[in-house]
Amino acid sequence: MSDIAKLQIGENSYEFPLVKGTENEVAIDIKSLRTATNGVITIDAGFKNTGSCESGITFLDGEKGILRYRGYSIDELAEKADFLEVAYALIFGELPTKEELDKFHADIKLKSVVDDDVRKILEAFPKTAHPMGILSSLTSALTAFNPSSVNVNSEEEMYNAIVKIMGKFPVLVAWTMRKKSGLPLNYGSKSLGYVENIMKMMFEEPNEEYVINPIIKDALDKLLILHADHEQNCSTSTVRIAGSSHAGLFASLSAGISALWGPLHGGANQAVLEMLEAIKEDGGDTKKYMAKAKDKNDPFRLMGFGHRVYKNFDPRATIIKKAADEVLKDLGIEDPILEIARGLEQEALNDSYFVDRKLYPNVDFYSGIIYRAMGIPVEMFTVMFALGRLPGWIAQWKEMRLNKEPIGRPRQIYTGENLRPFKSIEKR
Ligand code: ACO
Repeated sequence: MSDIAKLQIGENSYEFPLVKGTENEVAIDIKSLRTATNGVITIDAGFKNTGSCESGITFLDGEKGILRYRGYSIDELAEKADFLEVAYALIFGELPTKEELDKFHADIKLKSVVDDDVRKILEAFPKTAHPMGILSSLTSALTAFNPSSVNVNSEEEMYNAIVKIMGKFPVLVAWTMRKKSGLPLNYGSKSLGYVENIMKMMFEEPNEEYVINPIIKDALDKLLILHADHEQNCSTSTVRIAGSSHAGLFASLSAGISALWGPLHGGANQAVLEMLEAIKEDGGDTKKYMAKAKDKNDPFRLMGFGHRVYKNFDPRATIIKKAADEVLKDLGIEDPILEIARGLEQEALNDSYFVDRKLYPNVDFYSGIIYRAMGIPVEMFTVMFALGRLPGWIAQWKEMRLNKEPIGRPRQIYTGENLRPFKSIEKR
């Protein structure tokens, strides 16, 4: 293949270089397009064909169902690594040695205390507040307690900001859940591993010792790993674009949390469970809901199905489905919701509407079933996604700043009114 793309606009032709990735993905570098053509731009709603950056963090091939962090396959990471190791690899580029991992964990623990005034902010939220709104606000509020902006050229300052948020974010997550459940706020224990500590912070009852269930711990580790990064998705792009104005790490993360909230993105895990519940309440007739999903006059979509980039299968869904089966079996839980989920999946996989549009179960079709078995309230599901995605957002923000990327500022094609005279209020 030539390494030049040719573009013809009317009489004029232009040439643009091709950019190739390490996995042979090809892009046309149109940096010079607007200047060379005197004002022509590209338009690509939803960025379906547009790369926003070059990145060395996560590789995914939606056609082949491949997902790798820093070159390691998601299957191997989910099976052999723990969440903190994966977080380290995402953020710093390599899997940590034992010493590096121990130091990372120790530094995180040192920085995990949250200013007690944050409790007052949390207390001011009404019981009706959605946990994602609370989490986004509290993450942004951390900026107020850590006002000095990070010098991104200082490795030490960057490291300190990273361990700070890795330490404090799980506390905010746990407090958000405890506020919703009416439990007193707590800190975990420095003697526990990162994920075990999260569990203790979330689930410990005030009047009994918390005992870690290893099955739940393994499943949570897996879920967090599977959600840890997914290249330039909606929330990650939001983090990068907010950070491209040189907004701080915590403020950029807060923007990412808001983007993750929507049901077309991270909010899908909550929407899936609500949908499965509704189908159960309605008599469990999956065929009726399949018909609704296919009806173009009905806004209903089969939540947990379809993905912008996976057009074959979502490799995370395969791992999670297996984990859901294991967790439910190990915990001895018979969840009728799982039967409905299996039924819907089977019908969709054999239905030409879904097959033709390459719509397969995504990561969140099964994650909610595991979260529910763990005793996590439905409204907290997307918060759990955010907890997993944190290292990915940090890694992407860091890469964007270190690559000195320009401020993200797309253009548009204006389709509004042409210049017209002002009309006084009496004449309107
Ligand atoms: N149910 C029914 N039909 C669907 C669904 C669905 N879940 N998803 C897509 N379609 C249909 C669309 O109606 C469209 O049909 P058409 O070509 O006849 O008009 C076609 O499939 C393509 O859909 P788009 O919305 O154009 O695909 P896009 O790539 O923009 O959207 C998305 C991807 C948002 C994930 C979509 O599939 C969806 O809404 N799924 C349900 C929500 C969900 O599960 N989101 C989680 C995504 S994974 C994550 O964020 C971790």
